[in-house]
Amino acid sequence: MKYYIKTYGCQMNQRDSESAGVMLEAHGYIETKIEEEADVLIFNTCSVREQAERKAIGKIGILKRLKKKRPDIFIGVMGCMAQNKGAELLKTLPHLDFVIGTDKLHELPEIINAEKKERYKDVRLETDYDVLTSMSGHHVNAKQSVSAYIAIMRGCNRFCSYCIVPFVRGREKSRKISDIVDEAKKLVEDGIKEVYLLGQNVAGFGLDGASPSMTRKESPFAELLYELNKIEGLYRIRWISPHPAYFNDALIDAIIDCDKVCKSVHLPLQSGSNEILKRMNRPYTAEDYLSIVKKLKSKCKEITFSTDIIVGFPGETDDDFLATCAIMDEVKFDNAYLFKYSPREKTKAAEYADQLSQEIKEERHSILLKKLGKSATSNNLSCVGNTYDVLVEGASKRNSKRWTGRADGNQVVVFEPKDKVEVGDIVQIKIKESSSMTLFGAMQ
Ligand code: SAH
Ligand code: SF4
Ligand code: F3S
Repeated sequence: MKYYIKTYGCQMNQRDSESAGVMLEAHGYIETKIEEEADVLIFNTCSVREQAERKAIGKIGILKRLKKKRPDIFIGVMGCMAQNKGAELLKTLPHLDFVIGTDKLHELPEIINAEKKERYKDVRLETDYDVLTSMSGHHVNAKQSVSAYIAIMRGCNRFCSYCIVPFVRGREKSRKISDIVDEAKKLVEDGIKEVYLLGQNVAGFGLDGASPSMTRKESPFAELLYELNKIEGLYRIRWISPHPAYFNDALIDAIIDCDKVCKSVHLPLQSGSNEILKRMNRPYTAEDYLSIVKKLKSKCKEITFSTDIIVGFPGETDDDFLATCAIMDEVKFDNAYLFKYSPREKTKAAEYADQLSQEIKEERHSILLKKLGKSATSNNLSCVGNTYDVLVEGASKRNSKRWTGRADGNQVVVFEPKDKVEVGDIVQIKIKESSSMTLFGAMQ
């Protein structure tokens, strides 16, 4: 029996798809990348913007033909859109067999192994803490990949006024530090060199009380970083996403103290205007944001920053937008995910009367894109002449003579190997040239 799984959305969903695959393989399924030869097809979906939902629905719609030709195949939807739309999806897409919500990931094998007549039209959407037990399975191939994702928590309690995630991923549920450390150790034994910790609010990790040992006022996220930093054979620790309101001094110290924690911080800004931040229900100001950046920069000159920004939030005036531009000019991000505001059902901001036109969103988006191009280009140019430790990721797809890897600051580094190199090696590369996206250098 073969399964096919297609993932939409963020790294959290990629991680869930990987866990789902491992669970199915434990029940005798083999992965295929070809839809036509699969017995089970699963779509792991995203709801964060309207476009994301439209894409998945379009794709599943096309499969009607395949289901007609092979009525025995089994098609299911999991992830955020499954949770969001629930049984309604079975009406819009009548060839669909099951809908499994974000807290029911661990029940996937049960649904798939059920008697054929029972498994049709199965919809499971309830809150379930047992989902935390299904989060540690990995597909590791250290010859191909140096890095692995570890989901340290699920859900979000923040309810930013634009965001659907708390409605579709449920309340925050943090895993135990010991389980996360064990998972990381196992990955390192299997050859992984870098772990990427995932959560919607990692700086608030452990505050949800999902694990009774972790009901505290201050998040033990910094503690988790110190514990992971002790793992022998692990080279690098990266993590997303911290909410600035939870970014305390203990976390700043941990980033600086832990040599394996990369000096590259993804710090979602969303807007540079205090008025808009208030309306977004993001309880920090532009000044608070800049103070975190300044503290980190004062302790580590080379630290790099990336961010998420939404343009065209309801009521965003020219001055509000200029405030966002000013922060971009000041922080000089290496990378930024720039989004045009998309009204989402259930969220507060979708009901605000002062929605902006698509034209304004496009215009502001392109202004920020240009700013990002400028700052990324100039940051990369300032790396020329420096030598970096580069974690080798593999031969470049375009030119097999060239290899690529990443510096600690997350910059992509392209080089021609002098000696034999392998995926997972750390090599010293002196940077000779740069572009907005890439550093080019020579092996030392
Ligand atoms: N938990 C993370 C964000 C997860 S969602 C955090 O708080 O930073 C990823 C990004 O999608 C968000 O940072 C936001 O910039 C964007 N986003 C979320 N809802 C959106 C919406 N309705 N329209 C446009 N962008 C949105
Ligand atoms: Fe969405 Fe805000 Fe939660 Fe991030 S913190 S997932 S933006 S509600
Ligand atoms: Fe999308 Fe869900 Fe991630 S809405 S961005 S897949 S948490």
